[in-house]
Amino acid sequence: MEVIIMPDERKATLLSARLIAAQIRRKPDSTLGLATGRTMENLYGVLAEMHRKGELDFSLCRSFNLDEYIGLPENDPNSYRSYMNHHLFSKVNMDLRNTHLPCGCAPDLAKECEEYEKRIAECGGIDLQLLGIGRSGHIGFNEPLSSLASRTRDKALTPTTIQQNAPLFPRPEDMPKRALTMGVGTILEAKRILMLVTGAEKAEIVAKAVEGPITSMVSATALQLHPKCTVIVDESAAEHLQGKEYYRWIFRNEPEWQDYQDLLD
Ligand code: F6R
Repeated sequence: MEVIIMPDERKATLLSARLIAAQIRRKPDSTLGLATGRTMENLYGVLAEMHRKGELDFSLCRSFNLDEYIGLPENDPNSYRSYMNHHLFSKVNMDLRNTHLPCGCAPDLAKECEEYEKRIAECGGIDLQLLGIGRSGHIGFNEPLSSLASRTRDKALTPTTIQQNAPLFPRPEDMPKRALTMGVGTILEAKRILMLVTGAEKAEIVAKAVEGPITSMVSATALQLHPKCTVIVDESAAEHLQGKEYYRWIFRNEPEWQDYQDLLD
């Protein structure tokens, strides 16, 4: 695992966007694993702007989102399908038929989850998986005690997650209490993982995720098992990390990061 500390949220977001852009340029038909949430809004804004300026072509990309609420139809303004259409898909040249989210209204949810896994496999797996982290330590909606080998399935959300996301609903009590989510095992199969974490309210949980012992109580700790996982944090989210100086040294000195030094100015 690598941890990159950026001076502020804007630069953490820019670095994430540049790494995604590099992936798409290297492999134009990349399969992207995508996340929703507040942290991703600006990131999708930067990617959309790169596309608008003619710097980034999504036409051959495919995508699989991490999760979707159970019981919300696709066209509900609070569904993750609506979020993705609004923040990214409508602003770039992705073919909507190549964008996938699990369907939270499927008549047979277990079958829907099985088929979602199959569709990912048929696309050759995920090249780059984008992640945020929830206050419960979840990745996707893998709440505490999710098996570290779990696959896409139906999951009950914790009170912490409900408290985190309910304010995004016009009537907070309408937030669904269950979701379909890729499993931790599904996420760990991605060829590369990028987790973006910003803001002081995530400082404690990201320190546990990165430097704490691996435990299903904090699903994000499973990322320590992945051979190519980069965690990008801003200074506020980095507050409780023990190894800050080492992480900064790596970013300044490793050849892989030399093209990104301007972000420290
Ligand atoms: C969303 C998702 C979640 C979020 C996490 C952080 O698809 O999978 O794991 O990434 O809850 O959300 P924000 O960015 O709103 O704090």
